[in-house]
Order: sequence, then C-alpha cells, then structure tokens
Amino acid sequence: RSSSSSSSSASKWWCRGGAAEDDSIVILETSPIEGMRPGTSGLRKKTRVWVEDPTYTLNFAQSLMDGWCVPKGVRSLVIGGDGREYSGECFEILASVAAANGVHRIVAPKGGVISTPAASALVRRLGVDGAVLMTASHNPGGLDGDFGIKFNDRDGSPAREDLTEAVYAASKTLKRIYIKRTNPLINNNVEMVDANDAYVAVLRECFDFEFLREKLRRASFVFDAMHGAAGPAARRVLADELQGDPSCLLRCDPRPDFGGGHPDPNLKWAADLASRFGLDSTGSSTSNFEDIFPVIGCACDGDGDRNMIVGAGIFVTPSDSLAVLAARAHKIRWFGRKLAAVARSMPTSRAVDRVAAHLGIPCLETPTGWKYFGNLMERYSPFLCGEESFGTGADHVREKDGLWAFLAWLSILDDGETVKDVMHSHWRQFGRDLYARYDFEEVDAASAAEMFDFLRSRDGVEEFDYTDPVDGSRATRQGIILDFPDTNERAVFRLSGTGSAGATVRLYLERYVPNPAQKDLDAVPAIVLADLARTAMSFARLPDFLGKSDPDVVT
Ligand code: G6P
Ligand code: ZN
Repeated sequence: RSSSSSSSSASKWWCRGGAAEDDSIVILETSPIEGMRPGTSGLRKKTRVWVEDPTYTLNFAQSLMDGWCVPKGVRSLVIGGDGREYSGECFEILASVAAANGVHRIVAPKGGVISTPAASALVRRLGVDGAVLMTASHNPGGLDGDFGIKFNDRDGSPAREDLTEAVYAASKTLKRIYIKRTNPLINNNVEMVDANDAYVAVLRECFDFEFLREKLRRASFVFDAMHGAAGPAARRVLADELQGDPSCLLRCDPRPDFGGGHPDPNLKWAADLASRFGLDSTGSSTSNFEDIFPVIGCACDGDGDRNMIVGAGIFVTPSDSLAVLAARAHKIRWFGRKLAAVARSMPTSRAVDRVAAHLGIPCLETPTGWKYFGNLMERYSPFLCGEESFGTGADHVREKDGLWAFLAWLSILDDGETVKDVMHSHWRQFGRDLYARYDFEEVDAASAAEMFDFLRSRDGVEEFDYTDPVDGSRATRQGIILDFPDTNERAVFRLSGTGSAGATVRLYLERYVPNPAQKDLDAVPAIVLADLARTAMSFARLPDFLGKSDPDVVT
C-alpha cells in the first residue's frame, strides 16, 4: 500500500472537502479502541456504538486488514450482510479501507442483502479470498439493537480463532487507517452480483428439486424469514422454483430493523409461527385438532443461518432435528448413499450419537461455534452437523444454513407423514433425548466468571477442552459438564460468546429415555427437565452468583 496524501483526524473523513484524486489513498492517524475481540461469531456491539463514532468501524476495518487481509494476501472479498441498520454506511467504510489495503476485487450483493450461507456459497463458487459480513445474526437490529461484523476465510468458513485473535491483536496496536477516498460504488473495483445465484446453484446440487416440487403440492408449509436475509432466497426457491404457495412465505422482505422483531427462530421469538402450529411458548400442543395445522414450518434468523422446525402440535429441538436428518440422510441427494461422519457441538444433545453408532460412522464433538466444523468437513465428506443453538448444515457450504435445513426436512418427510410421526418413530427406534436450555441474560460478567471458578472447584465436574483433529489447534474452557449417570441426565454450563452487553450464562439440560412409553413421547422437555435445572442451579449456587433464580429464556 502506498500513500499520496495524509491527514490527521480519523473522524468524518468523508466530509473533508477538496477534490480527491481518484486513486488517492489517505492515511488517517488513529489509536486503539478497547474491546474489539471478536466473539463466537464476529464483533458485535450496540448499533449506536458503531453509528455514533465512525472511528469505531474504521479501526475495526483496518484491524481486519492488518490482522488478516494483508498478512494472508487477501486480494478479493465478498462484502455484504443481512441488511440491518448501518449496513450501508459500514459497507462504504469497509470497501474504502479494503481497497486501500490491496483488496482489488470487491464483490457485493445487489441491494446489499445476502444471507450468511449464501455468502459462504459465493466465496466458494467465485474462489475469492474471503468475506466480510455485516450482521449480528439473531440479535435485534435497528438503532437500539445490535450491529456486528464477522469474517470468513477463503474456504467460506467463519474465521478460526487464530485469525480472529490476530485481528484483535492488530486492533490493540493500531496507529493508522488507510482508506481509498473515492466513492467505492463508483470505483470499478466493486462488482455487484445477484446474492443468490451461487447459493441456489448449490442447493440444486443438494436436493432433488423435482421431488420437492411434488412434495410441496401435497404438504402444506409455512416459512418465516423474520424479515431477515433468508427471505429473498426462500421466495426464489420455495415460490419460484418449487412453485409453493407464496402466501405461505411470511416476512420474506428484509428490513433494517427486522420489523422491530427479534429475529431469533425459537419458541419465544418465533411465537407467531409456533402458534400457527398449535404450540405455546413451552412447545406444548394447545389443540386437540392437529389436522387443521400445516404439515411443516420453519423460521430463520436475521442472517439466515439458523432454523427452527415445527410441525402440527410439535416443536423439534435442534438436537433432534440433527439426529433425524442423520437417520434419514439417504433421502437427501447431497449425502449420496452414506454419510462419512456427523458432528455436533458439545452442549448439543447426544441424540445424533445414537444414530451415528447405528450407522457405524464417526460422531465428532466440537466446541460451540460453527467454525469448528470447517476442518472436519475437509476430512469427511459428505458431512452433516448441527448445534443446539438452532444450527443445522452440511459440507455444501461452510456455514449453517436455515433454508437448507428446511429443504432437508421436506426431503425426509414421507408422503402423508407428519412431523410428529417422524419424531415418534425416531424416538421409538433410538430412544428420546429430552432437551432444554435455560438462558440467564445480561448478568454481571465478573459474577458469572466467579460462578464458573466456583464450579471448577467442585468435585465431579468436567471441563470441555478440544483439540482439532485436523490442525491440532486447541480450544479450552468450553463448558462445564455435570453428569448424572444414574438418571441418564446431563447438565452443562457455558458462557455465551455472542452477546453485546454483560454476560449470558447458558444451562443446557438433557435426559435420555431409552425405551419411551407414550407419556415420554408426549412429554414437553422444558417441563420434564425443571427438576434437573433446579439441581444444577443449586449445585452452581447460580442464584447467589447471578442474582436470578429464573432464566430469562427457556428453549
Ligand atoms: C453463533 C454461531 C453458532 C454458535 C452460536 C453460539 O450463532 O454461529 O455456531 O452455536 O453462536 O452462541 P452463544 O451465544 O451460545 O455463544
Ligand atoms: Zn445467524
């Protein structure tokens, strides 16, 4: 990089008058801003933090360059996001900084909106060196919500920890920001492409669209994009390609504030969808007449990578969804005749392990975070994986994929079969892993850390550490496990890595029922596991440490 002019203040650079020459690169002096460590999935902060001081974005953009793009020789990037508030301004900054740091090809989705899995597909199809994605995933958007930036490597996978740590390190020693002063959109290094062409091409490889078209003629469905980035792709695939009824597509127009909603597909935030299937916020069925409901429903989060699957009178936990897809993988074109392996994050229930044992294939256990699956996908193909946090996907891209999960479910449903039929026959065959999660949100970070130290000091607990079997990298302190072998129960405590304020503690609960009777098939996990939750909470002295005796969200 070279400079032809320089100036001293990092703020309001675009307001600076004067006729900049087209190719001029400006150097702005700056100083480090604290707290720019990317979490589980990028750097997330309140939108106002980004909006109120453009230096924040400028600093992080340059840190991406210093910690990643420049040392790794990144010359081409996809830049896009879920379209949330501040994305337009942020795009200009990212593109201007990237262009000044040797990125000579920038690919941007027309209209600015691209889902996370579609971006992963685009990176892989175009063979570009990575992606910078403006999203805070399932967190609310708008001025009072969250904004975030994550980045993906050249394989389309979320950046692994060595890269995110290098970016963080760069943010701590930052002195200069390099920007290209011209309007990036007029500059011909920005190439506008259709957000979903590459993605839909990949989905066509994964599924038999003819078969799915027939399926949608017979099985009624509802798809809720929650005003996020999955909407346009869902319209194109479900309505245009598969000729599904367009009125079954809800909230498929992306909005900067997600329509004021919380774009997180779970029973609390996607309650609208759940109620169309006769479900209340615990996942209990509220109706005796389940025939009146559609066969299957799906909601996706803001950036389109998460999914929730529901059926008439039944909510499918993400852990069970993974297990069922594994058991019926032969019905999904992508998987050919046999899966090479499956994987789940540690807190995800062990339902899929039982299927893997039955199929005689490896089942790998990773820390929370989709990035840990990327390396495994290079070794095992075809590959299916998932997380309790409403993530399901395969090695067709390197991100979890909400729309893919819905198409996978459509593929495995037999004619005339309901989602409840699928689950009951699965549980009869493999046993049922009852599963629920308690979230204690925005608690004091220091108190949460003390609680974890206290847990570590107690006998009989195990802390999850991970060594990547492919590159040997390590991830430690990934959750504390309490095992209750006598009752086939397990509880896991973990600190969330995706919040934007304070700390969030998660408590994951499960019980395995090997030969479920009808009452076990009908049981609502959140209710059945309440005793285990109380035991785990008192074991951790959670109310004392966190000052809360009830969770904020139960899923
Ligand atoms: C993001 C990642 C997921 C991960 C989840 C965990 O959605 O993409 O892979 O499971 O965060 O969130 P948490 O808040 O529990 O750290
Ligand atoms: Zn997401």
